[in-house]
Amino acid sequence: MSQITEQQIAQYERDGFLVLEDFVSAADYAALRARAEELVESFDPSVVSIFSTHEQTRTSDEYFLSSGDQIRFFFEEEAFDEAGRLRQSKARSINKIGHALHDLDPVFARFSRTDALKQLVADLGIAQPLLVQSMYIFKQPSIGGEVTCHQDSTFLYTSPPSVVGLWFALEDATTENGCLWAIPGGHKLGLKSRFVRANGGTRFDIFDETPWPLERLVPLEVKTGTLIVLNGLLPHLSRANRSSRSRHAYTLHVADAQRIYPSDNWLQRSASLPFRGF
Ligand code: FE2
Repeated sequence: MSQITEQQIAQYERDGFLVLEDFVSAADYAALRARAEELVESFDPSVVSIFSTHEQTRTSDEYFLSSGDQIRFFFEEEAFDEAGRLRQSKARSINKIGHALHDLDPVFARFSRTDALKQLVADLGIAQPLLVQSMYIFKQPSIGGEVTCHQDSTFLYTSPPSVVGLWFALEDATTENGCLWAIPGGHKLGLKSRFVRANGGTRFDIFDETPWPLERLVPLEVKTGTLIVLNGLLPHLSRANRSSRSRHAYTLHVADAQRIYPSDNWLQRSASLPFRGF
């Protein structure tokens, strides 16, 4: 049975996003939050370089670039003082966990592979879905970093573009704590850039230098349990969180296996853990 109506599909095609309230049960979002807390507790921050010397920047690039089939932890940029020490507890310093929670962690795997999501993705027209990326995003109180306007297809490209982002609010998201903002209809403006692997590092290939029409941004303030579906071409951003409340979210990105997933996308899988569907 369809998860969404014809009218909602039309809305998604028009706006490039769809807000589905009460998609996640209270038991489920509590389980994800508790599991994320456990994962952070078990994480030893000494494995990640924290100073921004040249050598350690390279190390952290590798830590990021090889995280496509791992569960790894990334700090908020403002987490450290000048001496490179955490300003607050580890649990209040992590920006996100990525990028294969949906394959490697039993709690996130169970949440990510449900009949409801499988049907929703089918309703959205993805013929042969692959779950390519998952992230737990903390948007910490006071230091939760800004994410500038971008399209997810810049980072997760298929030819032609097919990626859909599923953004689950695990806490209320408001303009105070850094909710998403999107440009309705902006997915029709075309892909502006690709983030690709090059020479052991990464670079942006720019196709269109025109600035985003930021005056058209609208805030997507949502309650805990809401699912926001984002077309991979939809321009969106989130502002810094200067409030005293965190804004946890879980995101899952789905691509169509019938499209080409290029070998220069930053996110790659080892042969032992290929992308899988639902
Ligand atoms: Fe995004």
